[in-house]
Amino acid sequence: MTNEKNKIKRVLAIETSCDDTSVAIVEKEGWVSSMRTLSQDSKHEPFGGIVPEIAHRNHSFHLLFLIEECLKETKLDWSEISGIAVTSRPGLIGSLLVGLLTAKTLSLAKKVPFIAVNHLEAHLLASFLRDKEFNPSLKLSFPFLALIVSGGHTLLCYAKALGVYEVLGSTLDDAAGEAFDKFAKMLGFKFPGGAKIDQLAKNSKANSSAFYFPRPLYSADHLNFSFSGLKTGALRLLSTLSSEEKEKNLHSLCASFQKALVDTLIEKLRKALLKKKCRQFTISGGVSANSYLRARAEALSKENNKTLFLPPIRYCTDNAAMVGYAGLKRMERGEASSQNIKASSTSYSDDFIDQR
Ligand code: KG4
Ligand code: ZN
Repeated sequence: MTNEKNKIKRVLAIETSCDDTSVAIVEKEGWVSSMRTLSQDSKHEPFGGIVPEIAHRNHSFHLLFLIEECLKETKLDWSEISGIAVTSRPGLIGSLLVGLLTAKTLSLAKKVPFIAVNHLEAHLLASFLRDKEFNPSLKLSFPFLALIVSGGHTLLCYAKALGVYEVLGSTLDDAAGEAFDKFAKMLGFKFPGGAKIDQLAKNSKANSSAFYFPRPLYSADHLNFSFSGLKTGALRLLSTLSSEEKEKNLHSLCASFQKALVDTLIEKLRKALLKKKCRQFTISGGVSANSYLRARAEALSKENNKTLFLPPIRYCTDNAAMVGYAGLKRMERGEASSQNIKASSTSYSDDFIDQR
């Protein structure tokens, strides 16, 4: 194992599981020497959601170009790349296939091993990443508690060691990001609207107690989440307001909705920290870019004397650096994938321990 560890210097990482095309070069200890991420938001926006056909077509247009850019920036050639890490699950099959086939082809052509990575494991490990702008002295270590909140998933885990992730809770219906996006759509904003709600809720005119939104499963003893009731409650509330009332109360509507959703996330985190007696916790995934969630998580960390690790925004939303870190750590253990591996939409059942 020690030999393997010394051999793996850096990986080139590819992330194409959904609609962001991202490539990174990740060095030992999670140092990101280059990362290029292309968002396709403007391509999907007219359709009000992600169109799989448009997503994989755009990945195929841009992926090789982004790989070249990362190699150029770092002045590295293929002889200096120890391996390729690529997201193979879960995600949109067509999108995953573009990344996976590219990784398989480069692996054969350049004679470097490749490793297929679970996108959720990659999100979970995002707080290990470092770069020129973000290099805090405090470092995360196992075990820790991890909340992953993205457009497709809401997952609370106890991370015991690399590859040993116990699921404590997950959403029973909508994901947290999906709830944000649906509420934004009800207000007439472009997809994905999570960041817009965050921005409007920050306004000094916003009153987060002005409107009541339901908090499903808030008081339940278990650690599962449910956001579909929040969405229905929002629909019902908005149907009682005129366009003028909505316009006038826009900031307070966003702040009240955001507070309801974040209250639940924080309450489940608080319960999980107690249950697992964890000293450290991390939040990752696109929704962890939310400024109110970040502030509440900081407060939770102080109140409970626990250390919080929050990745910078570029490592919260989908990115290849987190995939690179997961792949690099697994390659250091001697793991690699075979050319037979398939893309899969299965979210976490094969890679996470779920004994709920
Ligand atoms: O992790 P991610 O980039 O992609 C998935 O794996 O799903 O997460 C995207 C989600 C979207 O639902 C988006 O609206 C949400 O993250 N998001 C936010 C914010 N920034 C992104 N939600 C709330 N506040 C934000 N600032
Ligand atoms: Zn994601």
